[in-house]
Amino acid sequence: MGPWHGYVLFFLLALSLTQSSVTASIFRKKHHVFIENGLDNYTLQAHCKSKDDDLGLHAIPPKGLFQWHFYGNFWLTTLFFCNTWWHSGQRVFDVYDMRNRELCNYCNYADCHWRAANDGVYLYNYENSSYMKMYEWVK
Ligand SMILES: *[C@@H]1O[C@H](CO)[C@@H](O)[C@H](O)[C@H]1NC(C)=O
Ligand SMILES: *[C@@H]1O[C@H](CO)[C@@H](O)[C@H](O)[C@H]1NC(C)=O
Repeated sequence: MGPWHGYVLFFLLALSLTQSSVTASIFRKKHHVFIENGLDNYTLQAHCKSKDDDLGLHAIPPKGLFQWHFYGNFWLTTLFFCNTWWHSGQRVFDVYDMRNRELCNYCNYADCHWRAANDGVYLYNYENSSYMKMYEWVK
């Protein structure tokens, strides 16, 4: 094998290493979901799931925070949704949907910060650094 072939091999090897480390870093990217109870003096109940995981029922005390993280699935289509309810209302909504570009922008492609308040469900928008109301409670 002449030196020329050595260079080609080295180039191909370097390329494949770069490719796989880029791929691996996409798959290893950590995503967080935060659900904060901003209700006045009421417990927030949350039952969150994805296709593969059932996080169980969580009773979040006032000012409390329930959070978890996940790594995107192979197809980058991971979706978590929650059924949430309290004394005066209930709501089911997607808390992280990797296919929903608008939601991913709000979450900075990494962290979705949800907050339950008496007048509805809010999401922290990284684009303008403020919470915005996403859902009304269903009474
Ligand atoms: C919440 O409940 C506690 C204990 O019952 C009470 O002391 C407090 O004043 C309440 N706060 C609000 C904002 O209603
Ligand atoms: C932030 O952006 C959202 C969505 O574009 C908008 O509804 C909200 O009013 C904005 N908040 C502020 C404080 O600009």
